Amino acid sequence: MDDKKIAVIGAGNMGMALLKGMLRRPWARGKNFIVSDVDKSKLKSLAKEFGIRTTDSNRNAVKGADIIVLAIKPQIINLVLEEIKTDLTTEQILISIAAGVKTLHILSRIGKDIPIIRAMPNIAALVGESATAMCVGKYANKKHMKQALEILESVGTVVEVREILMDAVTGLSGTGPMYVFLIIEGLSDAGVKVGLSRDVANALSVQTIMGAAKMMQETGWHAARLKDLVTSPGGTAISALHSLEKNGLKAMLIDAVEIATKRSIELGKHPHNDDENLS
Ligand SMILES: NC(=O)c1ccc[n+]([C@@H]2O[C@H](COP(=O)([O-])OP(=O)(O)OC[C@H]3O[C@@H](n4cnc5c(N)ncnc54)[C@H](OP(=O)(O)O)[C@@H]3O)[C@@H](O)[C@H]2O)c1
Repeated sequence: MDDKKIAVIGAGNMGMALLKGMLRRPWARGKNFIVSDVDKSKLKSLAKEFGIRTTDSNRNAVKGADIIVLAIKPQIINLVLEEIKTDLTTEQILISIAAGVKTLHILSRIGKDIPIIRAMPNIAALVGESATAMCVGKYANKKHMKQALEILESVGTVVEVREILMDAVTGLSGTGPMYVFLIIEGLSDAGVKVGLSRDVANALSVQTIMGAAKMMQETGWHAARLKDLVTSPGGTAISALHSLEKNGLKAMLIDAVEIATKRSIELGKHPHNDDENLS
């Protein structure tokens, strides 16, 4: 990756998370990055802060880049693709994080056989802890995937899925931080209900989630095995578990992920996916 020129189009939340993530990598050199956006004052402060090149022309950003990261909203993707398509070459790699926009759609808009990687990160990319899924377009091979991985892993962990599963990814990990925020809020309220101060309840709730998640990650054990580990006979955990099962916590989570997946499919039927045969 050392000598790769990387263009990021869109200096918003995700574009910036990826830029900062990449700049933390040993291979990153500020001069190899160019960021484009419509906001000139934002670009000026980015150039100053990170020693990167910036431009308010997406076409200029694309020219000479080896890898182009599309970090703009799905609603304007057609506009941006129209703008940059003449400057794109089949030697470049396009990484799109635009939610719901299919690789075949991008290919049909560009009209060139360009390797495309589509990725779905989540908001935890802002703190380098995204759960990201990626899939490959028609012309992307293992070499392109490896380079995309270098970029996406700079903001968290990455799994590869088939493109048809990207809506499921959106329902689970794309929307996922919201489920956890809500659970933490509930735990915090519960702590207050049983007499803890809000600060203490918040701190304990957040660390409990982080600790449990880290334990699963480090042991590699199934959640059920860890659950068994903490439910001692006649103890507090088994009593709490009974209540959660009676009230259908797991069924509620399954419903939520399923409904978010369906909504993602619905949103995918937008004009930014208006071409035929895009399944
Ligand atoms: N946020 C998430 O949690 C999340 C998770 C997964 C995937 N994504 C995807 O990531 C993409 C970016 O999301 P985001 O949350 O980072 O959005 P965002 O903060 O709105 O960033 C988009 C940036 O692009 C700029 N922009 C607008 N028009 C442009 C143009 N014609 N050329 C170049 N730049 C332009 C925007 O400027 P203005 O603000 O001035 O318009 C903004 O700075 C979206 O496609 C989204 O679906 C987001």
